[in-house]
Amino acid sequence: MSQSLLNTFIADCNGALENKTELSDVVAVIAPRMANLVNRSDEFLKPEHFQSDPDHYARNLVYEDTKSGLSLYTLVWNPGQWTPVHDHGTWGVVGVIEGQLQEQGYMRLDADQTADRNDGIDLRRAGLVLLTPGAVSTFVPNPDHIHQTGCPESLPRCVSLHLYGREMNSFFSYDVEAGTRELIEVAHTETQLGTCE
Ligand SMILES: [Fe+2]
Repeated sequence: MSQSLLNTFIADCNGALENKTELSDVVAVIAPRMANLVNRSDEFLKPEHFQSDPDHYARNLVYEDTKSGLSLYTLVWNPGQWTPVHDHGTWGVVGVIEGQLQEQGYMRLDADQTADRNDGIDLRRAGLVLLTPGAVSTFVPNPDHIHQTGCPESLPRCVSLHLYGREMNSFFSYDVEAGTRELIEVAHTETQLGTCE
């Protein structure tokens, strides 16, 4: 197991945050590094990071940087497990380790998409992205990237690696029919490799 690969990745991410003013530039720098990280995930992930849950997709903390707020998780998706429609209120970079991850995007059609309100939200389903091992996707906030992610019932388990710009302990969950959203807590397991103080 190599911590150095992960430490280098986190250092590169913090360097991108310090050197870039636009978050779209930050994720552009991190995306190819995430592709490298998922291709070499056997060098730093432990069996505990592959824990699944029969009731819902599992989130296993791999690393958190208490200074910059970066957080890295493995997500393990059994067939048929999906997130709610949600956003993250921050930027993110997602890479796939195993299986096929599906991301259903949503367009927000109400006039002021950055307004901080929890109703009157007009969402339409947008494009679908299929991510296979080695593939990477990114998102930036304001307006937030609203999406639903998961593994179809007909496919084998999927494992993905998710980097966020903050500790991902809550996000907005959307009710598309009702046009509402609510902030919900998001749990994870604590089998992390360490923290960067
Ligand atoms: Fe997400």
